[in-house]
Amino acid sequence: TIVSGKDVVSKARLSGYAVGAFNTNNLEWTEAILRVAQAQQAPTIVAASMGAIKYMGGFKTVADLIRNLDHELNITVPIAIHLDHGDYEAAKSAIAAGFTSVMFDGSHLPLEENLAKTREIVALAHAKGISVEAEVGTIGGEEDGIIGDGEIAPVEETIAMVETGIDFLAAGIGNIHGPYPDNWQGLHLDHLQKITTAIDEAAGYKVPVVLHGGSGVPDDQIRTAISMGVSKVNVNTEAQLAFHQALRDFILADHDLEGKNYDPRKLLAPGVKAIENALVDRIAVFGSANHA
Ligand code: G3H
Ligand code: ZN
Repeated sequence: TIVSGKDVVSKARLSGYAVGAFNTNNLEWTEAILRVAQAQQAPTIVAASMGAIKYMGGFKTVADLIRNLDHELNITVPIAIHLDHGDYEAAKSAIAAGFTSVMFDGSHLPLEENLAKTREIVALAHAKGISVEAEVGTIGGEEDGIIGDGEIAPVEETIAMVETGIDFLAAGIGNIHGPYPDNWQGLHLDHLQKITTAIDEAAGYKVPVVLHGGSGVPDDQIRTAISMGVSKVNVNTEAQLAFHQALRDFILADHDLEGKNYDPRKLLAPGVKAIENALVDRIAVFGSANHA
């Protein structure tokens, strides 16, 4: 069942778990995410980056694909269709195309411009019941051409961003897209606690916080972050690594598949299974199973 992002994330914040926001890359990936969500009875966010949307055939194609699969696969758990790291134009396109949640990522802009553009997107999105995520500080590393230095979000900036009326907040807290480097210092959990305490007090309610760069963060750090207010954890790289490894092993083992090893439906199956296993594993840590 397709719902807004706020629907699933606000409940998670109040109940003390996190919803998995899993990036999709194609048809098989999308089906895998939905199947796992249903099997785990876990409210879930299917996320698409601008790069993935371009790859998959555009905003409407992606929104309709998720909506149609939700219907045809009889998915009864809550599912949000989310734009990941969108620029201003992408956020508007996603709102028009039927996404139920958008991230406007103005984190590379001067703060005042980031806040002003976020306010505009909030007005457009909320008029249609669509939720909005925005970011202060930056996420380190690179994802689909989105590059960040990993600036830690100053607490005043997180308060100013929440005051724009967004539904959930992404903040740089030492998190990085892609695999974590060996010398990574871990999440800045003390700082996260300062942020969540400050924004909850300023807003007068529990504001859901988003952890980007969820792949490769040790489980205990994820659990601590959730206990502090993180209610959406983004995962892309872990599923990609699992897919790649399983597919690579399978192809190198040179299975015959009854003479049909050129059939993509057979060839991709082990990779898709590996994505499913990786997501089940994450949902167990996020605590979102059986919250549908
Ligand atoms: O926006 C997407 C996520 O932040 C992806 O992070 O590279 O750690 O999977 P990841
Ligand atoms: Zn991200």
